[in-house]
Amino acid sequence: MSDSSSVTPLVEMKGISKHFGEGPTRVDALVDITLNVNAGEVVGLLGPSGSGKSTLLHVIGAIVEPNEGWMRLDGDVVYDNRWLTSDLRRLRLDKIGFIFQYHNLLPFLEAVDNVAIVLTLAGWRRKDARARATELLEYLQVGHRRNAMPAQLSGGEGQRVAIARALANKPRIILADEPTASLDSERGGIVMDLLRKLAVEQQAAIIVVTHDDKILGRLDRIVQLRDGRMISSVSPPAPGVPKPNNPLVLTGA
Ligand SMILES: Nc1ncnc2c1ncn2[C@@H]1O[C@H](COP(=O)(O)OP(=O)(O)OP(=O)(O)O)[C@@H](O)[C@H]1O
Ligand SMILES: [Mg+2]
Repeated sequence: MSDSSSVTPLVEMKGISKHFGEGPTRVDALVDITLNVNAGEVVGLLGPSGSGKSTLLHVIGAIVEPNEGWMRLDGDVVYDNRWLTSDLRRLRLDKIGFIFQYHNLLPFLEAVDNVAIVLTLAGWRRKDARARATELLEYLQVGHRRNAMPAQLSGGEGQRVAIARALANKPRIILADEPTASLDSERGGIVMDLLRKLAVEQQAAIIVVTHDDKILGRLDRIVQLRDGRMISSVSPPAPGVPKPNNPLVLTGA
């Protein structure tokens, strides 16, 4: 076992800010965010609508460029008041797995090819890509659906295929924007349990945006945003803690 105090966080952000627009229409989506996430950790991002949760994921995923700050991903400083790489697509392919609210699978490809396509894009031979995709689908307990088209999958199956796709390139940083929102609570629980298992077994850092207070107990840490600012970062309550005194449960902006 390694000494956790000497482990470099997989995600490190210091003083990250992002605004959209200028003058009277300016929106400060993120203000001076400092956040570290370690390997093996599942962090939940909570906050009212418009508080900056998706923007924060998009900055970490190199989809949105911040205006200032510093960010290191999986050991590499990737942003220091500007992107330090000209190939952001490569950066995303190498380091990041993204899971969206709806699975976003390509409707004309079988489940297995929806996963394999990420690898063929990265230069793998089709046969090898399909073998790895099958392995991942089996790991996520959806291997029996490998030849189904997305429209034939249930919501939970589709989301597991989408998770397999996000994992195809072995990213160590997994970002999920409301991955359980389209699922009932049982399926949502299964998806969250899978994310936990991934964090531990693959030593990944997982950041998940959620409105779902039923999954709070499956998180290692809860980061709350409000108006683009981080207002707290705490361990979640134990399951069964009553809501009224629980400051983590938001009752609206
Ligand atoms: N591309 C954009 N252009 C202009 N404004 C934007 C853009 N993206 C986000 N914003 C604004 O930034 C703020 C934060 O948005 P963000 O999508 O991060 O919120 P959120 O916490 O994910 O909300 P929700 O819970 O509704 O998904 C909002 O005021 C939003 O309108
Ligand atoms: Mg959002």
